[in-house]
Amino acid sequence: MGTKYISEAVADAGFLPEKGKIVWESPSNIALIKYWGKYGQQYPENPSLSMSLKKSVSIVELRFRKNTDKKGTVDFKFEGIENQQFKQRVDKYLYQIAGYFPFLKDLYLEINSSNTFPHSSGVASSASFMSALALCICTLEKFTHQTYDSDFYQKASFMARLGSGSASRSVLGKFAAWGKNPGFSGSSDEYAVSFTEFIPENLRIIHDAVIIVNSAPKKVSSSQGHQLMQNHFYKQARIQQANTNIFRLMEAFSSNNWESISDVIENEALSLHALMLSSSPGYILLQQQTIDIIDAIREFRKVSGAQICFTLDAGPNVHVLYTEKAKQQVETFIDKELKPLAENNHIIYDKTGEGPVLKEKF
Ligand code: PMV
Repeated sequence: MGTKYISEAVADAGFLPEKGKIVWESPSNIALIKYWGKYGQQYPENPSLSMSLKKSVSIVELRFRKNTDKKGTVDFKFEGIENQQFKQRVDKYLYQIAGYFPFLKDLYLEINSSNTFPHSSGVASSASFMSALALCICTLEKFTHQTYDSDFYQKASFMARLGSGSASRSVLGKFAAWGKNPGFSGSSDEYAVSFTEFIPENLRIIHDAVIIVNSAPKKVSSSQGHQLMQNHFYKQARIQQANTNIFRLMEAFSSNNWESISDVIENEALSLHALMLSSSPGYILLQQQTIDIIDAIREFRKVSGAQICFTLDAGPNVHVLYTEKAKQQVETFIDKELKPLAENNHIIYDKTGEGPVLKEKF
């Protein structure tokens, strides 16, 4: 795919108007099968599967201007305020994709990003931000093209992947898979594809209540975690496990069996943290409340039979997943038993979302 995108790269910004603005809103996603470990140009060691969220989104505004002496430079603001750390990440990303979008050198870019969810809340902002930024740049490119024959979302997912692996899945709505997986013929390591057709109708909306246990920035970043997988003692076993789990999850969805679905999802969450615990050096992102919440969810499921399970991202906050059918019963349980375990009673209620939305073009 990369060589095709290089060959169709647009050399200059001739076709663009003098100035303009593009705005994309793109969601975060929560992985059901975890991507953990990467190689080369952000290729995943194992296939992953996720659900895009509805309310937890990033909004990226990209303003461009042609005839200015600031051509070839970028200014970045997060929620209207300059942010050097974030800007460095954006600069690095734009440098990385420069070969695919040579016309960017003719433009001065002003990027402003904002999120509908708080930072470090257990909702992945890199997935929503990088996917929104990739969509903005691909939209610009599409405009400069006279003969565009790429699949727009596939290309945006490919570009989002180069910014953050999990961002490749945010370009798709609902359920998305990324990473070559023998059980799924359309899957690819280069971009994510929709997985929604494999989800039964009654499970196409899954609620996700994120119980905030700790909102402080993570002690160990995901990129450090991916790196530690390179020489991990369990690396090959993990790759095998993820491939088996994705197959088991596909089967569980096709037979609409919540017990098996929750079994695989929880196994993935705990395995992710087991890999962190057993890496070298090992580290712990779980907290006491994380474990108390997990115990409470399992006990509640046993007693009530409700369609509920949990997953974890690379942090202590717990994502409580439950079906539309179980909503009322589960939310009463969350309110009564889980809320007191949350930091400042903080819970983010979200659910399956439809995917990115183009809000404004020129
Ligand atoms: O996309 P990254 O590099 O932020 O890695 C994401 C890793 C996990 O969130 C832990 C799992 C996943 O598949 O999203």
